[in-house]
Amino acid sequence: MIKGFIFDLDGVITDTAELHYKAWKNLADEMGWDFDYEINDKLRGISRMDSIKVILDHNQASLDEETLAELATKKNDIYVSSLDEMTSEDYLPGAKELLTHLRTEGFNVALGSASKNAIKVLQQLNANMYFDVIGDGNSVSKSKPEPDIFLYGSEKMKLQPDECIVFEDAESGIDAAKAGGFYSVGIGPKERVGHADLRFDSMAEATLFEIKSHFKDLF
Ligand code: G6P
Ligand code: MG
Repeated sequence: MIKGFIFDLDGVITDTAELHYKAWKNLADEMGWDFDYEINDKLRGISRMDSIKVILDHNQASLDEETLAELATKKNDIYVSSLDEMTSEDYLPGAKELLTHLRTEGFNVALGSASKNAIKVLQQLNANMYFDVIGDGNSVSKSKPEPDIFLYGSEKMKLQPDECIVFEDAESGIDAAKAGGFYSVGIGPKERVGHADLRFDSMAEATLFEIKSHFKDLF
């Protein structure tokens, strides 16, 4: 029986992927590194430090940990200041409607994001009231594809993983949901989230009606 939902933030509730892209691109240009949308897509769901390592590997470059941390902080400063422009108009189409519907129907709802900036993003969107539990990049140490952030959410909601549906736009996020024994909904193309139990191209199609129709034996 489904009693709870766990939502990833970036790429599910709001499109921060573009803001992350701009901030990484800024740093990459300064460092003379190659960086494009294809690599940006590989950074979905993974932590800041893991992200910079992916970019470095792609450029066959190597730097010591301290320099890497400094550069990641530099990228983060650019990213955080770009969040000031975000408003309550910046939900992905369909996201606010689904969150509202879940509230009306009395489901438990948790956030399960790898971002250490999740609280700031929720504030900018004015989205705090939709969540009973907030799991972010500060809540657990092992990031996706490990299931820890979703297990954190289900435990805090006092639910079993098989009582929860995870919403994710990242390949590593669907892997994490599966590893934890959660049901999963993928948002995005088949090549990225085709391994989810149910997939939509965008949040606009992810209505509670569609979800209940697909997982009908679980409601
Ligand atoms: C999300 C995004 C990733 C990002 C990660 C860490 O999972 O999809 O692209 O790297 O959060 O975000 P942060 O805000 O802590 O740098
Ligand atoms: Mg995401």
